[in-house]
Amino acid sequence: MSTKVLTLLQTFTEIAALRAQVRAWRNAGERIAFVPTMGNLHDGHLSLVTLAKQHATRVVASIFVNPTQFGPKEDYASYPRTLAADQALLASGGCDALFAPTVETMYPLNGTNSPNFAIDVGAIGTILCGAVRPGHFSGVATVVAKLFNIVQPDAAVFGEKDFQQLMVLRNLVSQFNFQIEIIGAPTIREGSGLARSSRNQYLSAEEREQARVIYATLLQMRDMRQRGVAAEQAQDHAFAVLKSAGLNPDYAVIRDAQTLDLINENTTNEVALIAARLGKARLIDNIYWNC
Ligand code: PAJ
Repeated sequence: MSTKVLTLLQTFTEIAALRAQVRAWRNAGERIAFVPTMGNLHDGHLSLVTLAKQHATRVVASIFVNPTQFGPKEDYASYPRTLAADQALLASGGCDALFAPTVETMYPLNGTNSPNFAIDVGAIGTILCGAVRPGHFSGVATVVAKLFNIVQPDAAVFGEKDFQQLMVLRNLVSQFNFQIEIIGAPTIREGSGLARSSRNQYLSAEEREQARVIYATLLQMRDMRQRGVAAEQAQDHAFAVLKSAGLNPDYAVIRDAQTLDLINENTTNEVALIAARLGKARLIDNIYWNC
């Protein structure tokens, strides 16, 4: 007879119960790291849990498909929701608790216009992905600020894959004086170089092959810059390569990795960033280097 080992993950849907657990851990002298996600978890998310465990004694993850960061024509309704599989993955990855609230819990209708109460992230919210997805980073900053106040972790881990998001959230913490250490986690890729993403499942087998060009192009951009090619020329080349591979790029740019400004005389780290549409998916990726 085979025995099935069932690993259970403490899952909270209510704020008060989650807070009570976190408070009990904190009173026992534990350090808490937090990994916010929208679920449909893959190796990229799990690497965040692993990194979180290196910085804390307890890891809390959240799964919440946040409506305020999706545009009206985006994939909020169809975004994959796979809670049971996600719970199993998180438990196997050593996560201690999951916060999985409803939309009503996160955005209660208890005041005039309260669902519209949001954080303005300033100019960074209007460039690159923010230019293509107006309001997106306001939605991200707002939900992460709410999650930070609910969980009250000592540290939080975010992927470098979402480079602009990580920068917005570092700004959030410094501008709003959150006492939370923000930890960036390296991008996890498939063998082909394609960055792992919940949206990769929107791709057909053929599109998945085509999508290899994104990482390959980022490497070319870095190579061109390291050979002294002008940033604009490298960008134009990248845009053309993506188009000729059948992708529809939103941008392919090289920026200052500290500020996301154009490269300037103070730039010490550069980042190449690509966002491109392919079939039903919008894919983003980046690599950065010292110059
Ligand atoms: P989601 O897309 O689910 O991503 C959750 C976290 O996993 C983010 O910090 C993201 O950067 C990281 N991540 C995704 N793919 C990764 C990969 N291939 N390698 C390493 N890390 C990866 O990002 C969000 O959710 C939301 O915007 C959120 C921050 C949860 C706010 O709603």
